[in-house]
Amino acid sequence: MYLSREEERVLNGEEGWAYQVAMRILVKLGDLFEADKLIPIESAHISGVSYKTIGDASIDFLEALGDSGAKVKVRSTMNPAGIDYNHPEEMIRVPEVMEKQDRIINIYGNMGIETVLTCTPYYINKPKENTHLAWAESSTVVYANSILHSWTNREGGPSALAAALIGKTPNYGVHKPENRLANVLVKVEPRLKSEAEHGALGAHVGKLLKDEIPCFSGLTHTRETELKHLGSAMASTGMTSIFYPDTSCPRISGELEVVSVDVNDLKNAFDSLSTTNESPDMVYIGCPHCSAEEVKRVALKIEGRRVRRDVKLWICTSRYVRKKAERYVGIIEAAGGKVLSDTCAVVTWLKEIGIDVLMTNSAKTAYYAPTMNRVETVFSSLDRCIEEACE
Ligand code: F3S
Repeated sequence: MYLSREEERVLNGEEGWAYQVAMRILVKLGDLFEADKLIPIESAHISGVSYKTIGDASIDFLEALGDSGAKVKVRSTMNPAGIDYNHPEEMIRVPEVMEKQDRIINIYGNMGIETVLTCTPYYINKPKENTHLAWAESSTVVYANSILHSWTNREGGPSALAAALIGKTPNYGVHKPENRLANVLVKVEPRLKSEAEHGALGAHVGKLLKDEIPCFSGLTHTRETELKHLGSAMASTGMTSIFYPDTSCPRISGELEVVSVDVNDLKNAFDSLSTTNESPDMVYIGCPHCSAEEVKRVALKIEGRRVRRDVKLWICTSRYVRKKAERYVGIIEAAGGKVLSDTCAVVTWLKEIGIDVLMTNSAKTAYYAPTMNRVETVFSSLDRCIEEACE
């Protein structure tokens, strides 16, 4: 990969150890994927924030970077952590865990990364169309490429952090127009009715297509929330970083490979996301983190009802959306639910707070929770989740 004289200087350590390490990561990545050069980015989004998912070794590395005084060069945000410090009564109560989580957030914050702690940073600040980003967190990446028409590869935590420190990313993958062309047409036969059905479709297609780029036909009246669920599920079971919700998209020349999804495929995909039909201890909405509109929808469904005493109802979002939807947050909390921010059910500790069965409308959570949280899952629509949570 070509480096300018200035970039060479950074690689040689003339700007200090932290920037040298960051540049080394980018150069390794660029060489591996045959990038021609580094390109400037508008923003970075960093994953690897929850102590539960990154552990002690990463804290030591981050601390060394932070101690060297490294600062990010572009607007940077970070993913959810393992704790909502505003709702300690809902969280694991181990002082050492709380202290280590706090340290991680502080290290990132001291580097200049905004402590928004959300996987939907685009509800706070939308990137411009056709600008290059270095975003980690697969659901965020697929949303940026497919809905916001920005350009980002699926970065890992370290490469997104390196890009944030340098302000650039290697030019390969979907940063190049020729790698953003659809190569599979997915014909969706059933008419999808809920975000959960879109998630089930995404989980099915992700498994089938791996990293191919689909365009969909048959998705009618689909809103951004439903596309968010579709994309996040597809990026969980597969490696897709971009999809097109309809057939008016840039595509490879010639005939596209066609994959059909019928009613049975959808039903099987939906059913496979539940591991039990037992009653849940927790009902969880908010993966990916809710928009203000989603918080409002939950509030309108729950208004005047009461959450069962033996069930926790968690709605997760960012602090920004929580504030924006304050009125609806009030309705949910008056009914006995909790609107949490800064964390999510997957990256926090569930077993440790007594959860064995988790019900959710998120295909991504249903896919990951049995392994990442060691809980059984019940996957269902938002309506059924609310029914199950309430008396
Ligand atoms: Fe976000 Fe947590 Fe889901 S980080 S995408 S809410 S697993």
